[in-house]
Amino acid sequence: MQILDENLIGKNIKIYIGSGLDNLINKNIRTKHVNFISNNLITYKRKINNIESIKIFMDDGEKIKDIEHFGYVLNELISREIERNSTISYIGGGTLGDLIGFSASVYKRGVNLCAIPTTMLSQVDSSIGGKNAINYGNVKNIAGTFYNPEYIFDDIDFLLGSDKLLLKEGLSEIIKMALIKDSKFFDLLMKNDLDSIFNEKMLEEIIYRGAKIKLDFVRKDFYDVKKLRFNLNFGHSIGHAIESYSGNLISHGMAVAGGMMLESYIAYKMGYSPDLYGTIKDSLKKYKIDIINIKEYNVDKLINYIKNDKKMEDGKLNMVMLDDIGKSHVEKIDINEIKKYLKMFNGDVK
Ligand SMILES: NC(=O)c1ccc[n+]([C@@H]2O[C@H](COP(=O)([O-])OP(=O)(O)OC[C@H]3O[C@@H](n4cnc5c(N)ncnc54)[C@H](O)[C@@H]3O)[C@@H](O)[C@H]2O)c1
Repeated sequence: MQILDENLIGKNIKIYIGSGLDNLINKNIRTKHVNFISNNLITYKRKINNIESIKIFMDDGEKIKDIEHFGYVLNELISREIERNSTISYIGGGTLGDLIGFSASVYKRGVNLCAIPTTMLSQVDSSIGGKNAINYGNVKNIAGTFYNPEYIFDDIDFLLGSDKLLLKEGLSEIIKMALIKDSKFFDLLMKNDLDSIFNEKMLEEIIYRGAKIKLDFVRKDFYDVKKLRFNLNFGHSIGHAIESYSGNLISHGMAVAGGMMLESYIAYKMGYSPDLYGTIKDSLKKYKIDIINIKEYNVDKLINYIKNDKKMEDGKLNMVMLDDIGKSHVEKIDINEIKKYLKMFNGDVK
């Protein structure tokens, strides 16, 4: 088992990464414990039963990040007379985590929160860093707070019990983390593939290293104001536009993967980095992350989606520029420059 012990904006956070963490959860959570659990985790019944808590089973997925489900969670807490010193936890992916994190941050102005994330993405990324949100009126993550859990239990058993292809979403973010911060971690990922990492030892190592990178950025810029935490957005500027363009048919992980390749191409063309396009593509293929065919996208239409991104400021896009593997910085790039390079990539212009 690996442990990360962190202090974020005055709050102590412990992240445990390993297998068979149920007893540790019982040992650590001492207050009345209300646990919101994804209905989809029935195969882990024994482990879930082992966790001493009031259990509330519910749906998950993007559809629950809305006002109605927020109301449902509040009603459950009120009707069960949950007090301020109780602990609210969730067992599920990033969608349940975002809803329960948001609810815990506002219920009675904040109760103890514990995360038991069950997808690769939620273990290494969404449970860490205090951000949570719900969607409203078609706008994703429009209402949210910064609120840290006291404990995060990354139990590898949840990953080993799932289809390994489910890891792809998280692995896209993990490759991103290695690319922006840790070249040795990137080497380790390149020496392996989706099959060779699907065991307790490797998953524990990969989640530990990814979580550590996320914490490094979050610690230095918790509220995302110094353009340091912003580096975690590598691949996301163009990635979000691809996601919207496809009407969300392309998954977030796949869109970010495409975004990383295109953003690295722009960094290369602008003289910031060596040509890393092929290396990034190879790393994604190793983990069976589907590569989108960007030539099928109309650049003018894609640019319109980019223009609506919250990363735009005065006609310029804050974009993460890879300097090399393991190093990145943030630049403001004119939207017309981005258009020029995307057209060049698509062979529309020379
Ligand atoms: N707060 C943040 O900082 C942050 C960061 C990144 C992403 N997010 C959010 O995270 C969400 C995506 O999270 P996600 O990818 O975990 O999706 P998800 O919560 O929808 O889970 C994906 C699917 O996997 C199933 N599942 C979960 N654990 C499983 C397991 N162990 N075995 C089998 N199936 C399992 C779920 O039931 C669901 O159907 C998005 O809403 C995104 O906005 C938040």
